[in-house]
Amino acid sequence: MVSTDGPANICLVGLMGSGKSTVAPLLADRLGREHIDLDKEIALRLGRTIMIIFADQGEESFRREEQVVLQYFCNRDGLVIDCGGGVVLAAGNRSRLKDNFTVYLQTTPQTLALRVGSAAGRPLLQGAEPIEDQLAALLSEREALYRECAAETITTDDRTPAVIADEIIAHLPASLKPVVP
Ligand code: S3P
Repeated sequence: MVSTDGPANICLVGLMGSGKSTVAPLLADRLGREHIDLDKEIALRLGRTIMIIFADQGEESFRREEQVVLQYFCNRDGLVIDCGGGVVLAAGNRSRLKDNFTVYLQTTPQTLALRVGSAAGRPLLQGAEPIEDQLAALLSEREALYRECAAETITTDDRTPAVIADEIIAHLPASLKPVVP
């Protein structure tokens, strides 16, 4: 599947509401690749929702699992990996993301807040009032980390998932370009 040496997987990073989980399956479909949602994989492994993992085991335990799962999938190739917004917090994850083709979906806190709505299922936004301020705080902590890992940064505010997927495809390195028969 991979035509030349180079990054083996496409990873999407960005804050909650940046569009990773809508763009990733679309991108995977267009490229004929498998889509992996890291949060879903963590929930499957632990047999609990992300909300319950945070509440019962704490964020640290979630972050440990996130590292294990990212490492596992980065050892494969040909995947489109949709990462949770905090994946960039661990240095080890950042180095794995840099070894793959990582795209940062950059989005303003205003748009993020509109997209996450009531923030159901998002432990880091519970009790935040207004949610936009909490998203702005997370963004200022993480923006440099997203940029550090990303080979490409794409602004998503006024773009549809289809347009974002097209833009990612246009920027793919040779090792990830679809093979034209
Ligand atoms: C988190 C983002 C979530 C999920 C968890 C923590 C974060 O994923 O991993 O709630 O730290 O930003 P999404 O970005 O897919 O919502």
